[in-house]
Amino acid sequence: MDYIFGKLANRPELPPIVWNPDSRNSLNPHMLICGGSGAGKTTLLLRIAEYLAMSNKHIFIFDLKGDMVVKNDNGEVIGNYIEFTAWNSKYGINPFEFDTGVPEEELKEMISTGNMNDGQRFKVQNSGPKVQVERIIEIIKKNFLPNMGTNQKDILMYLFSDTYLCKDFKYDDITTWLNELPSLEDTLELVTRIKSYSNNYNGTVIDEQSSDFIMNMQNHIVGLKSLEARLEEEDKDEVEKVIKELKEKIETEVGEYIEYGKNNYTKKNVSPNKEWFEARGINVEKYMTKDALRTIDKMASYINALVDSGVFHSTRPPVKSGLNIVNISGLDVAIQRFIVDVWIGKVFKSCKIRGTYAERPNKTRGEKCDTYVIVDESKLIAGTSRDKNDPFSYLNRTATEARGFGMGLIVAAQSAEHFPAEFLKNFDAQVILNTGIADFDSVRKSFGIDKAMLEYTQHGYGNALVKTGRSFSKVKLIEKL
Ligand SMILES: Nc1ncnc2c1ncn2[C@@H]1O[C@H](COP(=O)(O)OP(=O)(O)O)[C@@H](O)[C@H]1O
Ligand SMILES: [Mg+2]
Repeated sequence: MDYIFGKLANRPELPPIVWNPDSRNSLNPHMLICGGSGAGKTTLLLRIAEYLAMSNKHIFIFDLKGDMVVKNDNGEVIGNYIEFTAWNSKYGINPFEFDTGVPEEELKEMISTGNMNDGQRFKVQNSGPKVQVERIIEIIKKNFLPNMGTNQKDILMYLFSDTYLCKDFKYDDITTWLNELPSLEDTLELVTRIKSYSNNYNGTVIDEQSSDFIMNMQNHIVGLKSLEARLEEEDKDEVEKVIKELKEKIETEVGEYIEYGKNNYTKKNVSPNKEWFEARGINVEKYMTKDALRTIDKMASYINALVDSGVFHSTRPPVKSGLNIVNISGLDVAIQRFIVDVWIGKVFKSCKIRGTYAERPNKTRGEKCDTYVIVDESKLIAGTSRDKNDPFSYLNRTATEARGFGMGLIVAAQSAEHFPAEFLKNFDAQVILNTGIADFDSVRKSFGIDKAMLEYTQHGYGNALVKTGRSFSKVKLIEKL
């Protein structure tokens, strides 16, 4: 079954322009849609989503504006709607959820038999919590801290790695990989313990006996000095006697304190958290510099903000096979980006874990692909940062690698500048809708089309330039029934 875009504007008698990601001549399953506000991007995306649902694909639509409702030809709403809300979100995502390199069943078998072959070892060694730590940091950098410095990166690396240790994960021991996952709250608990450890560590907290001892000694020293000043006086013998008594007293008290110290030093003078860190194999000493502690404070405030957003808990959204519409329209832009990033990464990994699509035995959902991620207004996700490091890197990477694993990406944006060059060059299907004057030149250049072609899009709804093969054609999009 093909998706029918519509008839050629100039040659309506010819067969319509169609799209089918599973067809033999499709180079990749990706599509991009470009058009100004109100041009009909969302409408077109919804129709394509419906087509993909009819074609039996797994689909994740990220709804950033709250206007994605998919209807079938009878006008009935279809799909599984998942809503994240800014307060008390029922569902959350856990950034610590990681890819194990092999499907869970396979991992369980490897654990129970204790065997793994070279292929499995390779996959496992390139995944797991350690890799996830790098991913979380990459996503935080992209969405919250574009200017993250080396120190901050190191501290986050330590904190997130140690957060896994809090739940007894061991990076090189897959038998721990099915442990209960940590959460960002665990990171905050870790931070609290590090800070209380550092208070004791710096000796700012001392016990009662020690403080008494110090006070007494201070008094004794003052006493001794005034006695020594009186030695020139007549009652010299008397003064010497008192000095002798005082010195004996000091000797006794110092002796007692040394005894007390011998018996109590290890117990009293050490943070109660020391054992907690030791039990988990966490080396807390690495945090014990002024710089590190200051950076921890700064990073903790970001992590706090994430936790406060209420969407980073571990109640997983009820994803179903088929069409899923994830409404995150009520959340902060940075949180939206974070969620979409983590989610796309997860979808990509679950596709990758199954191996090369072409070699899969049962392609019940299509010859070339079976999973789609759809993002409307992708600018909101990709960001507009002029950061030299490609701000689109994650989407970009998914786009370039996903095809081989049967995953397609469909993105819509208002301006050609919102698409990474990679998308413009490689996305097999491209649609240009009504383009505003402001974006006219950039669209023309980016897509390599002439003025007359582009002007066609400006004459009413449904006038689109569509490319499903080599070049763009003027198409009259078919009306929805
Ligand atoms: N092909 C079309 N024919 C007629 N009306 C359309 C068509 N496509 C979109 N519209 C209407 O135009 C308006 C804006 O469409 P929408 O898809 O929300 O645009 P965008 O997402 O690009 O801002 C909607 O009211 C929609 O019903
Ligand atoms: Mg829209």
